[in-house]
Amino acid sequence: MAYVTEENLTDLVLKRWQDIPDPRLKKVMQSLIKHLHGFVRDIEPTNAEWFTAIDWITRTGKMSDNKRQEVILFSDVMGVSMLVDAINNRLPSGATPTTVEGPFHIADAPEIAHGGNMAKGAPGIPTFVTGTVRGLDGKPIANATLDLWQTDGEGLYESQKGTEEPWMRGIFRSQADGSYVLRTVAPIAYTIPMDGTVGELVAKTNVSHMRPAHIHFAVSAAGYRTVTTHLFQKGDQYIETDVVYGVKEPLITEFKKMPPGKAPNGETLKEPFYVVHYDFVLQQAAKAQAAA
Ligand SMILES: [Fe+2]
Repeated sequence: MAYVTEENLTDLVLKRWQDIPDPRLKKVMQSLIKHLHGFVRDIEPTNAEWFTAIDWITRTGKMSDNKRQEVILFSDVMGVSMLVDAINNRLPSGATPTTVEGPFHIADAPEIAHGGNMAKGAPGIPTFVTGTVRGLDGKPIANATLDLWQTDGEGLYESQKGTEEPWMRGIFRSQADGSYVLRTVAPIAYTIPMDGTVGELVAKTNVSHMRPAHIHFAVSAAGYRTVTTHLFQKGDQYIETDVVYGVKEPLITEFKKMPPGKAPNGETLKEPFYVVHYDFVLQQAAKAQAAA
């Protein structure tokens, strides 16, 4: 066999790691070795730099648990989470595009009646979101589930607010004609956590650490593929520099400012409010399977 030189080392490692019965794992390991060695050959780290990297990875792992996931945050800011999401959601044009779920979804949100308010007692500008849930063929989808979560008007999610009761989340259902109406407050732009290893890295750059204001939605219906996505507020100053690359053009929505008066759910408000209109378009599950 050939003994190791700087030149032949990558080939030796690739050859050694060919002996893997699982073809998928073999493909993963061959690609990983190629890219990892390519990366190291490209940057030619000093020993000190290499140990700085090892220390950073170690601290990132140690910071992560079921409440704080610094590894996922790193994947997010590297655009890897959105790339994996895109690869797994190649939807036909016209279907509502997906974005990453993010770390703030909590299962089993309270069911709220059509037109109801999921932001009772929360600070922020009253906001009504209204539209329809439809199939790609244009047919309305009745009884679709719209699972929403977002920040309040001060930029906090439930897990950050630390409330006992559900905060800024709820499950709504579309009506027989596919329509939905709900009341919330306008979300605001927020920073990713900057007190960890990812923040440490971002702080050494001129990269924005902000996410533009958005409302998270997971829209599901029997026979259709679930869409996990966000609606973004048009005009937000961070819309073009979202730190996790979540913004897709069809998801940018107008938050139309309305004077005090009658709201889309029939309430009369004494203060100005926003109305957001969005039609969710879902792909049929059978078609999704055939395409896959
Ligand atoms: Fe979010």
